[in-house]
Amino acid sequence: MSTHPARDDDFVKVATAEAIDAGSGIAVDVGGIEIAVFNVDGEFYAISNRCAHQQAPLCKAGEAKLNADDTWTSTRGGVNEAACTVSCPWHLWEWDLETGEHAVSGKRIATFDCEVADGDIYVDAPG
Ligand code: FES
Repeated sequence: MSTHPARDDDFVKVATAEAIDAGSGIAVDVGGIEIAVFNVDGEFYAISNRCAHQQAPLCKAGEAKLNADDTWTSTRGGVNEAACTVSCPWHLWEWDLETGEHAVSGKRIATFDCEVADGDIYVDAPG
């Protein structure tokens, strides 16, 4: 992993900005930690990839459901760009991408500083 060109701390490159479509996310491994990076209207947010409810991978939010013909929605959770949240693909708990909070339960998952430089996304490595 390469480090941030303008910083001498622990920011490591995780992806190119163009690799993540607006309104979606990907999973990356930073120092052995699973992190989901989401594109919200061109701003990038890094949050734990594991929901605190039953450990669903948040990076799957917004993907098409399997066998969804008879359900009221064809996708599983997703990014709410106006609220800057992501809804878990399994039971739709909504996580604040800036704070990592789930308002209803009061639970919180980790968030990580995230920056773009020269078209690449860098995440502040935990630890
Ligand atoms: S596992 Fe995320 S809401 Fe249940």
